[in-house]
Amino acid sequence: MYKIITSFDFNASQIIDLINNNCQTMALPTGNTPIGMYLELKKRNIDWKKVKVFMLDVNYPQNPAEPTSFYSFAQKYLPSKKFNILNSQTKDPEKECREYEEKIKAAGGLDLAVLGIGENGHLAYNEPGTDWKSLTHMAKLSLETIKINKLKMQYGLTMGIKTIMSAKKIILLAKGADKAAIVKRAVEGPMDKNCPASILQTHPDVTFILDQEAASLLK
Ligand code: PGA
Repeated sequence: MYKIITSFDFNASQIIDLINNNCQTMALPTGNTPIGMYLELKKRNIDWKKVKVFMLDVNYPQNPAEPTSFYSFAQKYLPSKKFNILNSQTKDPEKECREYEEKIKAAGGLDLAVLGIGENGHLAYNEPGTDWKSLTHMAKLSLETIKINKLKMQYGLTMGIKTIMSAKKIILLAKGADKAAIVKRAVEGPMDKNCPASILQTHPDVTFILDQEAASLLK
């Protein structure tokens, strides 16, 4: 089920309402799109102590102290000083991913996942072709993602599609004309592993928050 809000006046009030209504565990994204949401959330008086945040993904391998790391992003933009994030320097990515998955379970599972979408349809670092049943794992990044994000590394650690789909509620944010074609494919196209975001069609509670340009090709 979709609710498409075609004016990009996302003022974070949905997330504030969810937190006030006992949303305790959430997955949050990195990227240009959610920055406005984070700046808005920072301005609000919210008790983040009761919220457990899990960042969706990281570049791998990468020193978290680098300014381009997702850890640095989270430190800069997240309103909550405390957050969980995959260790982007781990020597044992499999163990790291398994433990992250266990941590999410121990936190009671995800009440909410806020997502961006890549121009190739990726959700977090679940690139085209990723198994629908994937849990947190190490992912080989597509050439498109490496180019768009100007990355030096070829891998990421990411929550899997199944992990994301286990969230009770999902909010996907997209803005700009560059996202219009993939948004159309995700919302109106057939379910297709080559467009990971198309799996959202099977989730019972998804809201796409789009600006006019990202929504411009929708019927
Ligand atoms: P963006 O990234 O918000 O910077 O466009 C989204 C994504 O790649 O998932």
